[in-house]
Amino acid sequence: MIKSLPPEAYGELNEGITRVLFTAEAIEAKVYALGKQISADYNGRFPLLVGVLNGVVPFMADLLRAITIPVEVDYLAVASYSAETRARGLVRLEKDLDETIKDRHILFVEDMVDTGLTLNYLLQNLRAREPASIEVCTLFNKPRRRLINLPLKYIGFDLPDRFVVGYGLDYRGKYRNLPFLGLLKPEIFNP
Ligand code: IMP
Ligand code: MG
Repeated sequence: MIKSLPPEAYGELNEGITRVLFTAEAIEAKVYALGKQISADYNGRFPLLVGVLNGVVPFMADLLRAITIPVEVDYLAVASYSAETRARGLVRLEKDLDETIKDRHILFVEDMVDTGLTLNYLLQNLRAREPASIEVCTLFNKPRRRLINLPLKYIGFDLPDRFVVGYGLDYRGKYRNLPFLGLLKPEIFNP
C-alpha cells in the first residue's frame, strides 16, 4: 500500500468534495483489519478472490497486500445498465472469470453493496459453478438501500443512504482515484 497524497494534491477533484466521510488513513486501518481476519479464516484453503471491475481495483490492490496467506485473484466485468434496468436485477457479464471455480473457496470482493441486485445476480451465477464455498467481503455497505437480503461475511464500513465517491467509486467515471471517501458538492452531483 503506497502512502496516500494529501487531499489538496487532487486539485479540482478534491474541490468537488463537500465532506470527507472516511480518510485514507481510516480506510487503510480498516483494510488491514479485514486482511488480518481473512488471513486467519482462510488459512490453508488457498482462496480465490473475485472482484468486479472497475470500482474494486483500489480496494482489491490494498486488500491483497493486507492478506498474508497464499491467495489467487480473478476479475469479472458487468455491463452498466440504466438505473431502471438495474432495478429489475438485470446484469450482463462483459468479462467472465479466467479461472475455474469448481471446488474452490471463493471470496467475492466488492467496493460497495447498495441495493444488492448486482451482487445477487453474480452470486447466483457463481454458485451454479459449484465452488466449495462462497463468501462476500465489501468495503462499503448501504444497508438501508438493500432490496435483497444477502449474507455479507466481511463489512468495512456501513454508510448512510448518500451517494459517495473516491477509493474506486466514481461519479460519471471520475473521482475513482481519490484515496478517501467523500460526498460530492450538490452543484456537481445531480442524479
Ligand atoms: P447494487 O448493489 O446492485 O445497487 O449496485 C452496486 C453498485 O452501484 C456498486 O458496485 C457501484 O458501482 C454503484 N454504486 C452504488 N452506490 C454508489 C455510490 O454511492 N457511489 C458510487 N457508486 C455507487
Ligand atoms: Mg462495484
